[in-house]
Amino acid sequence: MTAASTPAFGADPAQVAWFGARVIDAIASEPPRRVLDIGCGDGALLRYLAARLPAATLVGVDVTARDEQHGRIQFVGADYLALEVGRFDLVVASSSLQGMGTTTDALAAKIARDVAPSGTLVHVTPYRCGYNHALNVLRALLHPLRSRATDRMILIVARALHPAEPRDKLVQRVDYMYLILRHYEDDLRAALARRGFRLTRTEPAPHTSAGQPKHRLAVMTAPAR
Ligand SMILES: C[S@@+](CC[C@H](N)C(=O)[O-])C[C@H]1O[C@@H](n2cnc3c(N)ncnc32)[C@H](O)[C@@H]1O
Repeated sequence: MTAASTPAFGADPAQVAWFGARVIDAIASEPPRRVLDIGCGDGALLRYLAARLPAATLVGVDVTARDEQHGRIQFVGADYLALEVGRFDLVVASSSLQGMGTTTDALAAKIARDVAPSGTLVHVTPYRCGYNHALNVLRALLHPLRSRATDRMILIVARALHPAEPRDKLVQRVDYMYLILRHYEDDLRAALARRGFRLTRTEPAPHTSAGQPKHRLAVMTAPAR
Protein backbone atom coordinates (compact mmCIF):
# COMPACT_ATOMS: atom_id res chain seq x y z
CA MET A 1 0.00 0.00 0.00
CA THR A 2 1.28 3.47 -0.61
CA ALA A 3 0.86 6.27 0.73
CA ALA A 4 -1.57 8.29 -0.96
CA SER A 5 -4.37 5.78 -0.37
CA THR A 6 -4.62 6.18 3.40
CA PRO A 7 -4.73 9.51 5.16
CA ALA A 8 -1.75 10.26 7.40
CA PHE A 9 -2.25 9.69 11.11
CA GLY A 10 -3.13 13.05 12.67
CA ALA A 11 -0.71 13.62 15.53
CA ASP A 12 -1.96 14.62 18.95
CA PRO A 13 -0.34 18.04 19.67
CA ALA A 14 0.08 17.22 23.38
CA GLN A 15 1.91 14.01 22.49
CA VAL A 16 4.17 15.84 20.01
CA ALA A 17 5.08 18.42 22.68
CA TRP A 18 5.67 15.72 25.35
CA PHE A 19 7.76 13.46 23.12
CA GLY A 20 9.50 16.29 21.23
CA ALA A 21 10.77 17.86 24.46
CA ARG A 22 12.23 14.52 25.55
CA VAL A 23 13.88 13.95 22.18
CA ILE A 24 15.58 17.35 22.41
CA ASP A 25 16.61 16.56 26.03
CA ALA A 26 18.13 13.26 24.88
CA ILE A 27 20.55 14.95 22.49
CA ALA A 28 23.99 14.73 24.03
CA SER A 29 26.51 17.40 23.04
CA GLU A 30 26.68 17.37 19.23
CA PRO A 31 23.37 18.31 17.58
CA PRO A 32 22.33 15.55 15.15
CA ARG A 33 22.91 16.20 11.45
CA ARG A 34 20.61 13.44 10.14
CA VAL A 35 17.32 12.57 11.85
CA LEU A 36 14.90 9.75 11.01
CA ASP A 37 11.29 9.56 12.26
CA ILE A 38 9.97 6.00 11.85
CA GLY A 39 6.20 6.04 11.27
CA CYS A 40 6.07 9.82 11.06
CA GLY A 41 2.31 10.08 10.44
CA ASP A 42 1.42 13.64 9.42
CA GLY A 43 4.96 14.91 10.15
CA ALA A 44 4.10 17.06 13.18
CA LEU A 45 7.07 15.73 15.18
CA LEU A 46 9.43 16.30 12.24
CA ARG A 47 8.30 19.92 12.02
CA TYR A 48 8.78 20.30 15.79
CA LEU A 49 12.32 18.88 15.55
CA ALA A 50 13.24 20.83 12.39
CA ALA A 51 12.41 24.09 14.17
CA ARG A 52 14.77 23.18 17.04
CA LEU A 53 17.58 21.55 15.04
CA PRO A 54 18.42 24.12 12.36
CA ALA A 55 21.48 22.23 11.05
CA ALA A 56 19.69 18.89 10.65
CA THR A 57 18.20 17.24 7.62
CA LEU A 58 15.24 15.08 8.52
CA VAL A 59 13.62 12.02 6.94
CA GLY A 60 10.16 10.76 7.83
CA VAL A 61 9.08 7.33 6.67
CA ASP A 62 5.51 6.14 6.81
CA VAL A 63 3.44 3.71 4.78
CA THR A 64 0.85 6.48 4.48
CA ALA A 65 3.28 9.24 3.46
CA ARG A 66 3.74 10.69 -0.03
CA ASP A 67 7.28 11.02 -1.40
CA GLU A 68 7.76 14.75 -0.88
CA GLN A 69 10.42 17.24 0.17
CA HIS A 70 9.51 20.17 2.42
CA GLY A 71 12.62 22.27 3.02
CA ARG A 72 14.95 20.14 5.15
CA ILE A 73 12.29 17.46 5.68
CA GLN A 74 12.01 14.53 3.26
CA PHE A 75 8.93 12.33 3.48
CA VAL A 76 9.24 8.78 2.17
CA GLY A 77 6.15 6.66 1.55
CA ALA A 78 7.44 3.18 2.33
CA ASP A 79 7.52 0.34 4.80
CA TYR A 80 10.28 1.19 7.27
CA LEU A 81 11.51 -2.40 7.13
CA ALA A 82 12.40 -1.91 3.43
CA LEU A 83 13.92 1.57 3.82
CA GLU A 84 17.64 1.83 2.97
CA VAL A 85 18.70 5.47 3.13
CA GLY A 86 21.84 5.36 5.23
CA ARG A 87 22.52 6.02 8.88
CA PHE A 88 21.14 8.66 11.21
CA ASP A 89 22.58 10.38 14.29
CA LEU A 90 19.10 10.47 15.80
CA VAL A 91 16.29 7.98 15.19
CA VAL A 92 12.88 8.55 16.76
CA ALA A 93 9.66 6.54 16.74
CA SER A 94 6.44 7.57 18.47
CA SER A 95 4.03 4.66 18.84
CA SER A 96 4.88 3.19 15.46
CA LEU A 97 7.08 0.14 16.07
CA GLN A 98 4.64 -2.18 17.85
CA GLY A 99 2.79 -3.59 14.84
CA MET A 100 5.64 -3.99 12.35
CA GLY A 101 5.55 -7.23 10.38
CA THR A 102 8.71 -8.96 11.47
CA THR A 103 10.28 -10.48 14.56
CA THR A 104 11.46 -8.23 17.38
CA ASP A 105 15.01 -9.40 16.76
CA ALA A 106 14.83 -8.47 13.06
CA LEU A 107 13.29 -5.09 13.92
CA ALA A 108 16.09 -4.42 16.43
CA ALA A 109 18.68 -5.47 13.83
CA LYS A 110 17.16 -3.02 11.32
CA ILE A 111 17.15 -0.16 13.84
CA ALA A 112 20.72 -1.02 14.87
CA ARG A 113 21.81 -0.71 11.20
CA ASP A 114 20.12 2.69 10.87
CA VAL A 115 21.52 4.40 13.98
CA ALA A 116 25.02 5.79 13.40
CA PRO A 117 27.84 4.84 15.81
CA SER A 118 27.24 6.63 19.15
CA GLY A 119 23.90 7.84 17.75
CA THR A 120 20.67 8.08 19.72
CA LEU A 121 17.39 6.17 19.51
CA VAL A 122 14.37 7.68 21.26
CA HIS A 123 11.13 5.75 21.03
CA VAL A 124 7.76 5.41 22.72
CA THR A 125 6.42 1.87 22.45
CA PRO A 126 4.00 -0.32 24.45
CA TYR A 127 5.61 -2.33 27.21
CA ARG A 128 4.83 -5.70 28.74
CA CYS A 129 2.14 -5.41 31.41
CA GLY A 130 -1.22 -6.96 32.29
CA TYR A 131 -3.13 -4.03 30.77
CA ASN A 132 -1.44 -4.38 27.38
CA HIS A 133 -1.81 -8.15 27.48
CA ALA A 134 -5.59 -7.84 28.10
CA LEU A 135 -5.89 -5.23 25.33
CA ASN A 136 -4.00 -7.50 22.94
CA VAL A 137 -6.34 -10.41 23.74
CA LEU A 138 -9.34 -8.16 23.05
CA ARG A 139 -7.79 -6.99 19.76
CA ALA A 140 -6.99 -10.55 18.71
CA LEU A 141 -10.66 -11.46 19.31
CA LEU A 142 -11.94 -8.40 17.44
CA HIS A 143 -9.54 -8.72 14.50
CA PRO A 144 -11.20 -11.67 12.69
CA LEU A 145 -14.67 -10.25 13.43
CA ARG A 146 -14.00 -6.83 11.90
CA SER A 147 -17.04 -5.42 10.14
CA ARG A 148 -18.92 -2.13 9.85
CA ALA A 149 -20.80 -3.17 12.98
CA THR A 150 -17.65 -3.64 15.08
CA ASP A 151 -16.18 -0.38 13.69
CA ARG A 152 -19.40 1.41 14.66
CA MET A 153 -19.40 -0.16 18.12
CA ILE A 154 -15.79 0.95 18.70
CA LEU A 155 -16.62 4.47 17.54
CA ILE A 156 -19.64 4.67 19.87
CA VAL A 157 -17.48 3.65 22.84
CA ALA A 158 -14.72 6.07 21.78
CA ARG A 159 -17.20 8.96 21.52
CA ALA A 160 -18.60 8.15 24.96
CA LEU A 161 -15.08 8.08 26.45
CA HIS A 162 -13.84 11.17 24.58
CA PRO A 163 -16.84 13.44 23.91
CA ALA A 164 -14.62 16.51 23.36
CA GLU A 165 -12.51 14.93 20.60
CA PRO A 166 -13.40 15.62 16.95
CA ARG A 167 -15.23 12.72 15.31
CA ASP A 168 -12.67 12.50 12.45
CA LYS A 169 -9.83 11.96 14.91
CA LEU A 170 -11.72 9.13 16.63
CA VAL A 171 -12.64 7.54 13.26
CA GLN A 172 -8.95 7.53 12.32
CA ARG A 173 -8.07 5.69 15.51
CA VAL A 174 -10.64 2.88 15.02
CA ASP A 175 -8.08 0.87 12.98
CA TYR A 176 -5.82 0.75 16.01
CA MET A 177 -8.37 -1.26 18.00
CA TYR A 178 -7.52 -4.14 15.65
CA LEU A 179 -3.75 -3.71 15.71
CA ILE A 180 -2.01 -6.63 17.37
CA LEU A 181 0.98 -5.66 19.50
CA ARG A 182 3.95 -7.64 18.20
CA HIS A 183 6.83 -5.70 19.72
CA TYR A 184 7.27 -4.38 23.23
CA GLU A 185 9.72 -1.80 24.58
CA ASP A 186 11.17 -4.37 27.02
CA ASP A 187 11.93 -6.90 24.27
CA LEU A 188 13.32 -4.28 21.88
CA ARG A 189 15.53 -2.98 24.66
CA ALA A 190 16.93 -6.47 25.28
CA ALA A 191 17.46 -7.12 21.55
CA LEU A 192 19.22 -3.77 21.12
CA ALA A 193 21.34 -4.35 24.25
CA ARG A 194 22.56 -7.58 22.60
CA ARG A 195 23.78 -5.33 19.77
CA GLY A 196 25.69 -3.07 22.14
CA PHE A 197 23.06 -0.36 22.70
CA ARG A 198 22.99 1.23 26.14
CA LEU A 199 19.81 2.39 27.87
CA THR A 200 20.11 5.94 29.18
CA ARG A 201 16.54 6.71 30.24
CA THR A 202 13.04 5.28 30.50
CA GLU A 203 9.80 6.91 31.52
CA PRO A 204 6.12 5.95 31.28
CA ALA A 205 4.30 7.91 28.58
CA PRO A 206 0.98 9.66 29.30
CA HIS A 207 -1.90 7.20 28.92
CA THR A 208 -4.76 9.14 27.38
CA SER A 209 -7.36 6.54 26.38
CA ALA A 210 -8.62 3.19 27.66
CA GLY A 211 -8.31 1.81 24.12
CA GLN A 212 -4.65 2.77 23.88
CA PRO A 213 -1.86 0.48 25.09
CA LYS A 214 0.35 1.77 27.87
CA HIS A 215 3.59 3.07 26.35
CA ARG A 216 7.05 3.73 27.69
CA LEU A 217 9.73 6.15 26.49
CA ALA A 218 13.19 4.67 26.06
CA VAL A 219 16.38 6.50 25.15
CA MET A 220 19.23 4.29 23.93
CA THR A 221 22.73 5.05 22.69
CA ALA A 222 24.35 3.03 19.91
CA PRO A 223 27.81 1.54 20.44
CA ALA A 224 30.76 3.64 19.19
CA ARG A 225 31.82 0.65 16.96
C1 LIG B 1 -0.06 5.48 15.96
S1 LIG B 1 0.53 6.18 14.49
C2 LIG B 1 1.73 7.33 15.14
C3 LIG B 1 2.09 8.40 14.15
C4 LIG B 1 3.10 9.43 14.67
N1 LIG B 1 4.38 8.81 15.01
C5 LIG B 1 2.52 10.16 15.85
O1 LIG B 1 3.01 9.97 16.98
O2 LIG B 1 1.56 10.92 15.64
C6 LIG B 1 1.60 4.91 13.84
C7 LIG B 1 2.20 5.28 12.49
O3 LIG B 1 3.16 4.31 12.12
C8 LIG B 1 3.01 4.04 10.74
N2 LIG B 1 3.57 2.71 10.47
C9 LIG B 1 3.18 1.54 11.02
N3 LIG B 1 3.92 0.53 10.53
C10 LIG B 1 4.80 1.08 9.65
C11 LIG B 1 5.85 0.56 8.83
N4 LIG B 1 6.11 -0.76 8.79
N5 LIG B 1 6.57 1.42 8.08
C12 LIG B 1 6.30 2.75 8.07
N6 LIG B 1 5.31 3.30 8.84
C13 LIG B 1 4.58 2.48 9.61
C14 LIG B 1 1.51 4.14 10.51
O4 LIG B 1 1.18 4.34 9.15
C15 LIG B 1 1.15 5.35 11.39
O5 LIG B 1 1.27 6.55 10.70
